[in-house]
Order: sequence, then structure tokens, then C-alpha cells
Amino acid sequence: MTSQLSAKPPSESLTNMTLMMGVDHGNTAGFVHGGSIMKLVDEAAGVASMRHCRGRVVTAQVDSLSFLAPVHMGDVLSIVAHVTQAWTTSMEVEVEVNRENPRTGEGELTTRAYLTMVAVDEDGHPVSVPPILAETASELRDQRKAEARRSARIELRSRLELQ
Ligand SMILES: CC(C)(COP(=O)(O)OP(=O)(O)OC[C@H]1O[C@@H](n2cnc3c(N)ncnc32)[C@H](O)[C@@H]1OP(=O)(O)O)[C@@H](O)C(=O)NCCC(=O)NCCS
Repeated sequence: MTSQLSAKPPSESLTNMTLMMGVDHGNTAGFVHGGSIMKLVDEAAGVASMRHCRGRVVTAQVDSLSFLAPVHMGDVLSIVAHVTQAWTTSMEVEVEVNRENPRTGEGELTTRAYLTMVAVDEDGHPVSVPPILAETASELRDQRKAEARRSARIELRSRLELQ
């Protein structure tokens, strides 16, 4: 399946979500559950990949998800996602989550994740996606790193299948 679709820059998929973490998201110690953050990461990756392919998507794999700092109840989360690379029917999305104490302005990067999303038709069969048009130095670097992650993923899968 070769893509005949016009290439799109990563900026077309850029997704920003901002929300305050309340008691629904947290535990009794005052921290936000990792699972609550994972759900938001998946939602942001879904929106970014749909903006790129303008169709339905499913999450095929969470390639990595690192919790770098805890999130506290009352923090405002800013979730930023964009497509870093697109192949035949799949796309890699980078998602970063920043927290901010809205009263003081203090904040930091708390989570970084890479997900593989696949475009599908109404029957759930994979369909072609537009290529990525990387133009800036940062977009080209993102694209190279996405290729390296995909190669590593494919190599790992084939090594594990040989065992
Ligand atoms: C993802 C899914 C559509 C792939 O279908 P499939 O018939 O295996 O399709 P293919 O083998 O032709 O692979 C299609 C693409 O998905 C990629 N892919 C499939 N499984 C993958 C995995 N586990 N991890 C990363 N990429 C994967 C392939 O590399 C291929 O990418 P490319 O076309 O860009 O080269 C199918 O496995 C599925 O529906 N999974 C369930 C998804 C789901 O329910 N997610 C949670 C809720 S959204």
C-alpha cells in the first residue's frame, strides 16, 4: 500500500490540551494516578493522529511512556502532541505533559511518551496516511529519531520471535 496523499507538516497535527487535575484523577496521598495521565496521553495522541490523517485511528502500541515527575491534585496539566513521522498506515506521535501550579507558576515536564497510531477504515482495516513533510531542523531530528525507534521496535520484535 503506497501513499499517494500530499505530505503534511507536523504542525498540522499539533494538539494542545489544558486541564486541571481534581479529586477524580488522584489518590489519597494527593498525587494524580499514572493511569489518569496515560488516558490523557492516549487521547492527545488520538487527536494529533486524526488531525494528520483526517480519519479514524487506533492505538497500536505505546512505545514508551516515562513518568519524569509526579503530578499533584490542583495542578494544571498542559498536554502537547504532534505526529513525528508517518509510514504507510501508521504514525508515531510524541506526547509531552507539563504540570503547573497555577497559584505560583512553578512547573515542569512530567511525562514523555511515544505512541504508534494506525489509520483504519470503518471496518478496522489499515488505510494509507499522508507522509510527513519535515522542514525545520527540529522536525527533521524528530523524524530521524522516530525512524530509529521504529527500527529498534521491529528488531526487538523479530529477536523475541526467534527465541
Ligand atoms: C493496529 C491494527 C489495526 C493493525 O492491523 P494489522 O492487520 O495487524 O495490520 P498490518 O499488519 O497490516 O499493520 C498495519 C500497520 O500497523 C503497524 N502495526 C501493527 N501492529 C503494530 C504494533 N503492535 N506496534 C506498532 N505498529 C504496529 C504496522 O507496522 C503497519 O504499519 P505501516 O503500514 O505504517 O508499515 C490491529 O492490530 C488492531 O486493530 N489492533 C487493535 C487496536 C486497538 O484496539 N487499540 C486500542 C483501542 S483504540
